Amino acid sequence: MKRLGAGRLVAVALWTLLTQITDADWWQLGLPSSMSNTVNLTPAAHHDRCHKLEYLAEQQREICSQHDRILPILGNGAKLAMEECQHQFRHSRWNCTTFIEQPSVFGNVVAVKSRETAYIYAISAASIAFAVTRACSKGELTDCSCDNRVRQKKHRSWQWGGCSEDIHYGEQFSRLFLDVKEDPNSAGGLMNLHNNEAGRRTIRRRMQRVCKCHGMSGSCSMRVCWRRLPPFRQVGEALYQRYEGASHVKFVQRRRKKLRAVSPDLKKPNKTDLVYLEDSPDYCERNDTMNILGTRGRICNRTSPGIDGCRLLCCGRGYQTRVREVEEKCKCKFVWCCNVVCETCRYKREEHICN
Ligand SMILES: *[C@@H]1O[C@H](CO)[C@@H](O)[C@H](O)[C@H]1NC(C)=O
Ligand SMILES: *[C@@H]1O[C@H](CO)[C@@H](O)[C@H](O)[C@H]1NC(C)=O
Ligand SMILES: *[C@@H]1O[C@H](CO)[C@@H](O)[C@H](O)[C@H]1NC(C)=O
Ligand SMILES: *[C@@H]1O[C@H](CO)[C@@H](O)[C@H](O)[C@H]1NC(C)=O
Repeated sequence: MKRLGAGRLVAVALWTLLTQITDADWWQLGLPSSMSNTVNLTPAAHHDRCHKLEYLAEQQREICSQHDRILPILGNGAKLAMEECQHQFRHSRWNCTTFIEQPSVFGNVVAVKSRETAYIYAISAASIAFAVTRACSKGELTDCSCDNRVRQKKHRSWQWGGCSEDIHYGEQFSRLFLDVKEDPNSAGGLMNLHNNEAGRRTIRRRMQRVCKCHGMSGSCSMRVCWRRLPPFRQVGEALYQRYEGASHVKFVQRRRKKLRAVSPDLKKPNKTDLVYLEDSPDYCERNDTMNILGTRGRICNRTSPGIDGCRLLCCGRGYQTRVREVEEKCKCKFVWCCNVVCETCRYKREEHICN
């Protein structure tokens, strides 16, 4: 063993890691700079634009260029994923920080095969399926529209009608666009593929049936129903619960390569569970290499025993309390007709801030 080798190995590993990320950081589609001027491109211009997007993997550029008008939809999907992730993690040590001025939107935390990374992949695969499905039913894409397959089933008290949203198309597209860049023979690839699928299934299982009455003056002699996407918040919440109960797995190579629970007494993860391979960093201290901001300066809840509580959020460093004067509308009265008149109240609010 030569001692010289180690440093070079680390450098090469880091380089591979970073190029992997910069090569295929499709989340950049959701940044404001990428989203401007993607609507109303001519088919030729759309095709060209897709081929020039350096942050997409080669195959993703191809898929993008084959689907006219998909670019702004993918942007909406990426943005939806970032916003939902930030909402769900707003009280956590890692609050789903995104960076607009560097090659990787979520930073190098996604290079760790942690449960946070699992969440990012699942919510992203779900949000692409969601955005594409919604675009189909709004008539914004040429290859899809409403789901006409559901109409074939007959029911006694109601019938299918209207526009059922075509989640199958959305899921298929999400699979095509996202799964293509994963290697099913590697541990990390299998993890991402599993979590992508878990995200998509979380939507499919929550599709809603909504109905409308027809008939003489509210007699409801005929009910017409269609299928609708669930509110995306529900998907974000369900996946957050999966995140909390995520399964720690390891890579095994038997006849087939697959992921297994790390220990035999743990429950076998099913298709909707999230899986992860590596423990998370603690996210307590700032680490610029990893793009972790740390929790100094975060506002914590003094009485909460949970992750938003000062004890856990501040990682045992303690906190300071400051009193802020806030103004709020209060004592609102309804004045006939049709105004609401409020007073402005001032009061003091205590805030606790992590050291
Ligand atoms: C998968 O397991 C979770 C618990 O980890 C359970 O809530 C869920 O219903 C299971 N899903 C299926 C499809 O069996
Ligand atoms: C940041 O995290 C990496 C990986 O865990 C570690 O090797 C490095 O020492 C950390 N840097 C600082 C400044 O803490
Ligand atoms: C996340 O936390 C950092 C401090 O660690 C803060 O600056 C930032 O505003 C927070 N982001 C969101 C979206 O809450
Ligand atoms: C702080 O936590 C407690 C207990 O979990 C909760 O009842 C309260 O609403 C929280 N306060 C704020 C400002 O979030």
